[in-house]
Amino acid sequence: MSTTKIHLIAAARPNFMKVAPLYHALAASDWADPVLVHTGQHYDRNMSDAILEDLRVPEPDFHLGVGSGTHAEQTGGVMIAYERVCMEHRPDWIVVVGDVNSTAACAMVGAKLWIPVVHLEAGLRSRDRRMPEEINRLVTDAIADVLWTPSPDADENLLAEGVPADKIDLIGNIMIDSFEMLREGIQSANTAAEFGLPPHDYALVTLHRPSNVDALETLEPIVAALEDAAVELPVAFVAHPRTINGLEKFGLTERVERNSAIHLLEPIPYKRFMSLVTTSRVVITDSGGLQEETTYLGIPCLTLRENTERPVTVTMGTNKLVDAATLGENLKAVLEGNWKQGECPPLWDGKTAIRAVESLQRYNDARG
Ligand code: UD1
Repeated sequence: MSTTKIHLIAAARPNFMKVAPLYHALAASDWADPVLVHTGQHYDRNMSDAILEDLRVPEPDFHLGVGSGTHAEQTGGVMIAYERVCMEHRPDWIVVVGDVNSTAACAMVGAKLWIPVVHLEAGLRSRDRRMPEEINRLVTDAIADVLWTPSPDADENLLAEGVPADKIDLIGNIMIDSFEMLREGIQSANTAAEFGLPPHDYALVTLHRPSNVDALETLEPIVAALEDAAVELPVAFVAHPRTINGLEKFGLTERVERNSAIHLLEPIPYKRFMSLVTTSRVVITDSGGLQEETTYLGIPCLTLRENTERPVTVTMGTNKLVDAATLGENLKAVLEGNWKQGECPPLWDGKTAIRAVESLQRYNDARG
């Protein structure tokens, strides 16, 4: 039987934990041949290769080496490089994940070459078009042939935008599959001890949104709020390269480092980082993935954003949107034990990759 060649596009840190479970599930099937394409949007070891190793994903079959740049440079660079790959090694399907620049770029390449495109994590909407990710989500969903959604709100968004129902398949949240696959290794990592943090009694902070970290007017009040938080409990501040750059540019690095209750840390690979999440008391973040992981784990999450494309983490889970001014009062509520328990959304169960493979086989058979 001839196998079906499926390109899986991985580009940036949050993509890898979505691609890995699908890679493994396709590799275990008798009909599909997964081909890993890394666009190189993220390239630091702890932002890329160390995570892929944690997730037991082999070396990518293609590495486009696009790197950093403006939005147009990055999107255009990925399109040019990936189009070449597709023209020489045409796949039967392309799966793009998440909402980064490479997601939209590769979806556009596929659609124009008439290669069917699947979007994993389709339908999420923040309704904030100032976010580059919202543009990427809208573009990708408008041209994808199959839309795999993580939660019912995503289906509703797509239907309201006129996407035919037979293109949409609610398969659940695939990031949970990565967590469950590595649960044992995560639990034994004990990263808190490594940094001298008291288990279940520290705040874990991650920030990387341009809207928070690219201007002094937004980053300084957040740093001030973290200083207030550090009076209550130790803070592990795991800083993304963009944030490290922002702190440096605005002369805030020394101020953060001087505070003995704030541990300023560089990016940490998946297993050791998830260990730090599981033993935290509260997470303060602007990440999309962490809003979901904390809901899954039942850990209070304070999200420093005006909106979220993942509303189910607020309506069902442990997440709440805050700003620098309201962070303190919400942290107090968490520390007083006055926080919602939350529940896990349906199909966030570690079996999403299996549903994805079944779904793709159905769509593939239907195309004949
Ligand atoms: C990208 C995604 C964002 C995602 C985030 C996760 C877009 C538009 N944004 O944002 O949705 O939540 O990844 O991290 O696609 N850098 C390094 N090393 C790296 C990667 C980046 O030093 O390995 C630095 C560079 O200075 C770069 C900056 O970080 O210019 C920003 O990287 P970029 O990929 O442009 O966007 P992110 O902010 O990481």
